[in-house]
Amino acid sequence: MEVIINPSAQAAANLAARKIAGVVRAKPSAVLGLATGGSPVPVYRELIRLHQEEGLDFSRVTTFNLDEYIGLRPSHPASYHHFMWECLFRHINVCSERVHIPDGLAHDIPASCNAYETAIRDAGGIDLQLLGIGTDGHIAFNEPASSLASRTRIKTLSERTRRDNASFFAEGEEVPHHVITMGVGTIMEAREVVLLGFGAAKADAMLAAIEGPVTQMVPASVLQFHERACFLLDDASAAKLQRADYYRHVFANKPGWQRV
Ligand code: F6R
Repeated sequence: MEVIINPSAQAAANLAARKIAGVVRAKPSAVLGLATGGSPVPVYRELIRLHQEEGLDFSRVTTFNLDEYIGLRPSHPASYHHFMWECLFRHINVCSERVHIPDGLAHDIPASCNAYETAIRDAGGIDLQLLGIGTDGHIAFNEPASSLASRTRIKTLSERTRRDNASFFAEGEEVPHHVITMGVGTIMEAREVVLLGFGAAKADAMLAAIEGPVTQMVPASVLQFHERACFLLDDASAAKLQRADYYRHVFANKPGWQRV
């Protein structure tokens, strides 16, 4: 597990974008797992720049998003379909047939979740999964007490997560209670995982995920068992880590061949 404390969220986002670009350059048909929310926005901005200015080619890339609200049509401004097309897809040369986002309007939700798992497997599995983290330690929408073996399924959001996400909805609009989300087990099968967590509001969650015990009460903590997991923080989200000096020392002294 790698913990990198960056001087700013933008520096962390640039690093994440470089990691993603590295995967795509090494394997043009890479399968990327993508996240929504505030944290990945600067990563997507940098990927767009890399596409426009440096020719980063997404034409053969396949994407799978982590989650979607149940009941929101794709054109709804707070849907994750809308978010992904606005923040990334329409600015790069990704092929729309290779973009996958859970279907929040599916009539048969369990069948749709199983089909999502099958599509990930058929694509050859996820090469790199980008994640954010909730203030309660959730990854994707696997709230505390989610099974660490869970697969794509319906989940009920906690009131805390609904409050945290209210800013993405118009004033007075209800945040849905239900979502479709990849499971913790699904995420753990990605070959590489990069988790973003910025700002003081994420400091407790980062402490619990990185230095606390592995527990279903902090779903992100299971990444301690992942062979290639990288946590990208800024100074504020790293403020409570006991081993912060050590993580900084490790990063500053990385051998050249290990650098992104
Ligand atoms: C979004 C997702 C969520 C967010 C998390 C943090 O696809 O799966 O787990 O990553 O809620 O959201 P932000 O980045 O808005 O703080």
